[in-house]
Amino acid sequence: MPAVPVVRHVDDATVAQVAALADHAAAVDGYRFLSDHLWLDLASGGELLAAAVPGSDHLVAYAQASPASGGWTIEATVHPEHRRADDGLLAGVVQAVLDAVRHEGGGRVTWWTHDVSTNEISLAEKLGLTADRDLLQMRRQLPTGLPVMVETRSFRPGADEQALLDVNNRAFAQHHEQGGWLLDTLQRRVRQAWFDPDGIRLHERDGRLAAFCWTKLHDAANGGVAVGEIYVIAVDPDFQGLGLGKQLTLAGLESIEQRGVTAAMLYVDGANTAAVGMYERLGFSRARHDRAFGTILPPLVGD
Ligand SMILES: CC(C)(COP(=O)(O)OP(=O)(O)OC[C@H]1O[C@@H](n2cnc3c(N)ncnc32)[C@H](O)[C@@H]1OP(=O)(O)O)[C@@H](O)C(=O)NCCC(=O)NCCS
Repeated sequence: MPAVPVVRHVDDATVAQVAALADHAAAVDGYRFLSDHLWLDLASGGELLAAAVPGSDHLVAYAQASPASGGWTIEATVHPEHRRADDGLLAGVVQAVLDAVRHEGGGRVTWWTHDVSTNEISLAEKLGLTADRDLLQMRRQLPTGLPVMVETRSFRPGADEQALLDVNNRAFAQHHEQGGWLLDTLQRRVRQAWFDPDGIRLHERDGRLAAFCWTKLHDAANGGVAVGEIYVIAVDPDFQGLGLGKQLTLAGLESIEQRGVTAAMLYVDGANTAAVGMYERLGFSRARHDRAFGTILPPLVGD
């Protein structure tokens, strides 16, 4: 396959084509291939590197690299109708953005695969990327039948941002993507159509925010069911191990159910044994396995 051109900014027409590709692929795969972070960069005209293979009236393949924590995060997909004859389409777009990152000076790249396939595992190996992280999607039906034993209240926009950021950044201090949030990181999410202040449950102790559980509802799409996600849960390190993680998860699940949604899901790092164990004991089971492949790319010299 000839080299795929890479652009740094995507025009509105291409954004619409990527959205259509994401919708079409989601109908087959059951998930959208671009995570919030990459989608927000694309939709808001942020800095990115994008490689697209056009077809007659739709995109055939697309890969995007977005800046993340001093490196780049990549996500990619091939249009479902072109997957059987995958003659290097995925390899073509992923290779193109990797090359573009080298043009930009290189650095750490992380390619996130969703429901990781043998094709992606062998492609990662060919591209010199190694498995870095596993992310599990876990699911359960609601209601849980378990009581919420702590008091929580809704998020107050304009008043609770800093306290939430402090707890988030302290709880996720070691975490590549969820840690180090800025006010802007939070506000970009608050501005999204799905944002619901009642979907963030806050628990205070000793006059300060001790823990929060942020939920996000996903509409039923393509004959599926609506799903409520435990989007972020964080307990301040000063209050961990006191049962708040479990209680705030239950409070989040209760708020999902109160909004009429009876399926719940969450993503958790496969290495976060404390959280995985907690969710299993709360009745969640593993539904999908995503994998991040990464490497540090040297800059391209002499070009
Ligand atoms: C994961 C987290 C939410 C758990 O909250 P917590 O208040 O510390 O946990 P709890 O006290 O409610 O304990 C819940 C269960 O996990 C167990 N647990 C807690 N910390 C643990 C640890 N470090 N190792 C093993 N098990 C642990 C508890 O024994 C308890 O078990 P039980 O279900 O048998 O009662 C919290 O540690 C945290 O905020 N971590 C950083 C952010 C994070 O990882 N969020 C989850 C991302 S998906």
